[in-house]
Amino acid sequence: MDINSEIAKLNWKREPYGLYEPIEYTLAAGGKRVRPQLAMIACQMFGGNEEEALPAALALEVFHNFTLLHDDVMDKADMRRGRPTVHVKWNENTAILSGDQMLIEAYKLLSDVPSDKLPKVLRLFNKMATEICEGQQYDVDFESMEHVTKDEYLMMIRLKTSVLLATALQIGAYIADADEQAQEALYQFGIAIGLAFQIQDDILDVWGDPKTFGKAVGGDISCNKKTFVYLEAMRRLGDEAKNLEQWYSQVLEDNTEKIAAVKAIFEQLGVREACENVVEDYTQKALAILDTLPQNVATDQLRHLAHKLHTRKD
Ligand code: IPE
Ligand code: IPE
Ligand code: MG
Ligand code: MG
Ligand code: MG
Repeated sequence: MDINSEIAKLNWKREPYGLYEPIEYTLAAGGKRVRPQLAMIACQMFGGNEEEALPAALALEVFHNFTLLHDDVMDKADMRRGRPTVHVKWNENTAILSGDQMLIEAYKLLSDVPSDKLPKVLRLFNKMATEICEGQQYDVDFESMEHVTKDEYLMMIRLKTSVLLATALQIGAYIADADEQAQEALYQFGIAIGLAFQIQDDILDVWGDPKTFGKAVGGDISCNKKTFVYLEAMRRLGDEAKNLEQWYSQVLEDNTEKIAAVKAIFEQLGVREACENVVEDYTQKALAILDTLPQNVATDQLRHLAHKLHTRKD
């Protein structure tokens, strides 16, 4: 089943256009569709009916896109998927309200999950949605905190990024009647690839090519985000961190000079390779979990996906 064509079937030609056009704009813009793919592959792994997994898969992608609308307001991000973000093309009110409507649309899609499975799917989905809000709050809190540890950072990205991937896998497996142990293993696989995925995203935010990455580089630096790249740089600087700390104590209108200066510090320290190694470690951890699951075409697809995500450029 082709997820993109299923998403294209969703109809947003509704009034008021000011509410629905930004939704159509966002969902038409592509993106990797990782979360619905994970749900469908997990369902396939246990011989489930893909028609039954589809509503949850679509709900997960619409939900993910909703988080992006609000995230781009929070992060003052002007570009996504190579195009202006909704709050730039329209305005912040639009990003808030069309985002809210996307959250509602996600739950409407989710309500088509087979009725005997719906109570647990709702519980899993709600837990994940709350955890994402918690992660997003920590992410923002950390911007103005001077000291953030790697453990705190890992807790934060587990919440804002990993749980969505993990829950997509668990829901797909549950719909296919996988046992609890297998659901949990897939969930943990999702957590591990999610950590790798977010650290890779942090790396791309500094060194990505805007043409493939689709987002402006240096956005995390502008916002003083305590990313893995930053934390590794701080660790290496030890008592010599004043200069970097100084940059990260400022909120500026024009970030050109700051981005160049911070990037130069990161490069001087050679932190990129250390971050890439951590991405590799989490990917290997994820792959090891797959060995405990049934081995079939779906397992191979997950292996392929894990490799693709950790070498990704977009
Ligand atoms: C962006 O997610 C948000 C993060 C968790 C880094 P993706 O990188 O999956 O975004 P799209 O959907 O492919 O555009
Ligand atoms: C993604 O974090 C987390 C959510 C959107 C929930 P980022 O803020 O790093 O994602 P991008 O880089 O804007 O896609
Ligand atoms: Mg963010
Ligand atoms: Mg962001
Ligand atoms: Mg990012």
